[in-house]
Amino acid sequence: MVTDARRVPELVLGIETSCDETAAAVVADGREIYSSIVSSQVDLHARFGGVVPEIASRAHLELINVVVAEALVEAGCDFADLHAVAACHGPGLAGALLVGVSAAKAVALCRSIPYVGVNHLEAHLQAAWLDEPDLAPPLAVLIASGGHTMIVIVEARGSYRVVGQTVDDAAGEAFDKVARFLGLGYPGGPAVDAVATEGDPRAVRFPRPMAGDGYDFSFSGLKTAVVQYVRAHPEAAVADVAASFQEAVVDVLSTKLLAAARDAGARTLVLGGGVAANRSLRSRVTDLAAADDRRAYLPGPALCTDNAAMIAATGWYRLHADGPTPLNDGATPGLRLPVVG
Ligand code: KG4
Ligand code: ZN
Repeated sequence: MVTDARRVPELVLGIETSCDETAAAVVADGREIYSSIVSSQVDLHARFGGVVPEIASRAHLELINVVVAEALVEAGCDFADLHAVAACHGPGLAGALLVGVSAAKAVALCRSIPYVGVNHLEAHLQAAWLDEPDLAPPLAVLIASGGHTMIVIVEARGSYRVVGQTVDDAAGEAFDKVARFLGLGYPGGPAVDAVATEGDPRAVRFPRPMAGDGYDFSFSGLKTAVVQYVRAHPEAAVADVAASFQEAVVDVLSTKLLAAARDAGARTLVLGGGVAANRSLRSRVTDLAAADDRRAYLPGPALCTDNAAMIAATGWYRLHADGPTPLNDGATPGLRLPVVG
């Protein structure tokens, strides 16, 4: 392949402030991560047992300039080197989103470079290409986070079909609520993941909600089943309950993802979103795919949880596909994934 050594890579600054992580990253040509800084507000929200929107917005405001500066320093570049700036403009918390969107627009205005508003869910989907630029659709992707749980068939890069989603709680929300009930702290996913390694996943047979019932999910009944079980069996070991709850979630998520892949003729299964950092889910999806002569592609945990590298990469992709976003476009807390058909 002949490469043009004089070509300057297109550097995109990505900004993510949709929930409780203040993140900034510099990504070259939508592929190469020069820097990715994530400042978590977990400590600020932990004593409330969940994200407090007002506290999140205020913290983003205090952190955004420092995090952006750190991303530039680590990438070894300056505002003047940027080709474009991208920010997550939804879905997410209104006040939190506005901080990132406003910061990105300020950079775009001052430097006369394009601004791109990025859909958070699309960014989770596109994160896979950062680790694996040759990923070939069709793909069956499970996005499981604190706010969403959905199976998306990626027909081509940028072309999505949602085949199933949660009818109530998101998978991450279920992890967080169960962890809180079990006294494991916040955020719950990593806490359950850790304690489950010491428990028996077969100790309690919790229900598999909506199993065999298409590709939609339901997790609120499962959470209630855990509460009822613990109330009836106060002597039960927390590690066993956590491992058994996690087993039910992993079972439902992985089985439905494989079935959707078969249905769509997708040879590759992909995970995204914070819950995709779960070790049990990662090994189960890997095993199921291998047994079915399919491939599992699992981005590293830091690319699964919220980060700005996925925003910068998706911003670069969308800039080339659709052009810049007008500066009078705001943030959309209820933004949905753009789908085909
Ligand atoms: O994608 P993400 O970082 O933020 C949202 O867009 O919501 O996902 C956060 C969610 C939280 O509910 C957190 O408990 C869950 O992902 N999570 C996990 C793990 N790491 C994060 N859930 C299960 N196991 C984990 N290791
Ligand atoms: Zn997310």
